[in-house]
Amino acid sequence: MGKAIAIDGPSASGKSSVSKGVAAELGFIYVDSGALYRGVTWQAIRKGVDPKDAAAVLEAMHSADWAFFVKNGAAIFSVDGDVPVQELREKDVREAVARVAAIPEVRKFVVESLRSLENFGSLVMEGRDIGTVVFPDSPHKFYLDADPEERAMRRYRELVAAGEDEKAHEVMESLKKRDQIDATRKADPLVVAPGAQVIDSTSMTLEEVIQTVIDAVRRKA
Ligand code: DC
Repeated sequence: MGKAIAIDGPSASGKSSVSKGVAAELGFIYVDSGALYRGVTWQAIRKGVDPKDAAAVLEAMHSADWAFFVKNGAAIFSVDGDVPVQELREKDVREAVARVAAIPEVRKFVVESLRSLENFGSLVMEGRDIGTVVFPDSPHKFYLDADPEERAMRRYRELVAAGEDEKAHEVMESLKKRDQIDATRKADPLVVAPGAQVIDSTSMTLEEVIQTVIDAVRRKA
């Protein structure tokens, strides 16, 4: 069995850039677990389902055909033959995903799917519950954090770079709301996993964070 490096933390804490960098340097497969929660949300929305209607979301999820594969060093999925990428970042998905991710049966489906990716090889998986729920036995767990203002600014710059018309204070509000839902939901709230190394990236460069993770993984290898 390969290694599974778990990288958890709140929105815009730098998980994606760090996880991609670590995966590239170690030759591991990068997995964005949030993309799958977004995929379930997107599938529901495109089937005309109200994301607040948990039973209908589950029906849309269970009746779809999901497949997983590796492309360019990253695990990705198709749903009913389509591979959503940009669609997962759209506003309707972004605004509904925290609610969908709070549905216990959605979490069960996603967690089982994520575990099955170990069949592809060693993984660097970013998310909210990777160290606590998906791979609790992994010796390689990290919790990335950064000040809320810094995280909001990072997310704002990302959105602007992607051509979205957003206001900084709205991004801050939406981030706070998502943090609140993620940290207080009953099913697998965002917490630091036992044994996880906490890295506060507020005043670190991306490269420093990547090296901190890689050094820690090598020390335990
Ligand atoms: O990381 P992200 O912004 O793409 O995550 C989207 C949503 O999914 C967010 O509300 C948190 C949730 N999520 C989760 O509950 N567990 C994970 N392992 C990953 C994401």
